[in-house]
Amino acid sequence: MSMDWIAGPGTALHGTLEVPGDKSVSHRAIMLAAIADGVSRIEGFLEGEDTRATAAVFQQLGVGIEAPDQGVRIVHGVGIDGLRAPVAPLDCGNAGTAMRLLAGLLCGQDFDCELVGDVSLSKRPMRRVIEPLERMNARISAAEGGVPPLQIHGGSQLTAIDYTCEVPSAQVKSALLLAGLRARGETIVREPQPTRDYSERMLAAFGWPIQFAPGIARLPGGHRLRATDVVVPADFSSAAFFIVAATLVPGSLLTLKGVGLNPRRTGLLHVLRAMGADIVEHNRSECGGEPVADLVVRHAALRGIEVPVAHVADMIDEFPILFIAAACAQGTTRVRGAAELRVKESDRIATMAAGLAQLGVRIVETPDGADIQGGPVSGGQIDSHGDHRVAMAFAVAAQLSREKVRITDVANVATSFPGFVARAQAVGLQVAPAGAA
Ligand code: S3P
Repeated sequence: MSMDWIAGPGTALHGTLEVPGDKSVSHRAIMLAAIADGVSRIEGFLEGEDTRATAAVFQQLGVGIEAPDQGVRIVHGVGIDGLRAPVAPLDCGNAGTAMRLLAGLLCGQDFDCELVGDVSLSKRPMRRVIEPLERMNARISAAEGGVPPLQIHGGSQLTAIDYTCEVPSAQVKSALLLAGLRARGETIVREPQPTRDYSERMLAAFGWPIQFAPGIARLPGGHRLRATDVVVPADFSSAAFFIVAATLVPGSLLTLKGVGLNPRRTGLLHVLRAMGADIVEHNRSECGGEPVADLVVRHAALRGIEVPVAHVADMIDEFPILFIAAACAQGTTRVRGAAELRVKESDRIATMAAGLAQLGVRIVETPDGADIQGGPVSGGQIDSHGDHRVAMAFAVAAQLSREKVRITDVANVATSFPGFVARAQAVGLQVAPAGAA
């Protein structure tokens, strides 16, 4: 049975909020700790379904992982050659990051394995990693159309390649770098637009001699990873829903604590500020090598803008919530150069356009974006299509609506933001499970 929310209309948001750990960093911390020499401690680990799926996969591959406390994992690394053949398919759930990075990490092993996922993941394109990994001598087969499940045939000696990514994708880049660990030679990945660099930063933190700069990474094969402790910052993408909610609802004043502000993730901050948002950074510091700060957000009226294409890769997960900000801004917001949105957990251009139209917002889809006309938001029923970020974005939209909004199929919010409803309620957001409303 579908889990639904009833949300809105809302009143001002107040208080201080800490959002859970970063999803991208949590996945990578488990992966590198698993194949490092020694014991690593991860703090701030995201207790989401996606990142727990990654941890469960490594347990199936013979890695000891303890969870002594919420958000803590102790990983007993088995070394670069120490993974064991799994006896069953490896289930990545809803997590594209898990499947694509694992394809790279596992294709150079001596054993065969199968990577499977849920209904949404089973529709997502995998050729973007299979094709370059095959050039490295990997053998991977997908279902028809290049989608999961993936059969990974082990036993190949990988060779390094110099590869220019066709789409801006940290997942593709990371898959190749992880394959490169066991390849002969130097793997070079070039990107048309720089994407998040957590794999590069974390490989360096685990002692691998990688060189990187925005748009390029060079990784020699044949080294080893040294266990290290990782502190995961709060996930900017989870904070984004509250940044926009506090901006939109009159009278709001909200503080978000210790948010990760890696420049490859914070395109939304630039765009919201250009639209007129009032977001101030306090207590800038570092957490696990990443810049973090508290964000103080006050209500501000927004105006529509043309989103600079240069920011698109740096805010690729924030378009569902940007579409809501645009729907509540004065004038038109134009998004282009974001065709990747069509292959996320749902086709995010289509699901957002359908949902906004349902709430009476004027939106015109284009192949790689949309024109969104700000205006009043009405109540209605929205299908999130099982997409966590679409569900949370419409919970924010509902705060501005004149009537209640029912959002269907929201269970997947637990993939990235367990405890969203409780945290949202604590700062005054009107959202509750349908039965409890
Ligand atoms: C991620 C990269 C992005 C992003 C996803 C997480 C990562 O995907 O959308 O949520 O952790 O590397 P792409 O690299 O496919 O754009």
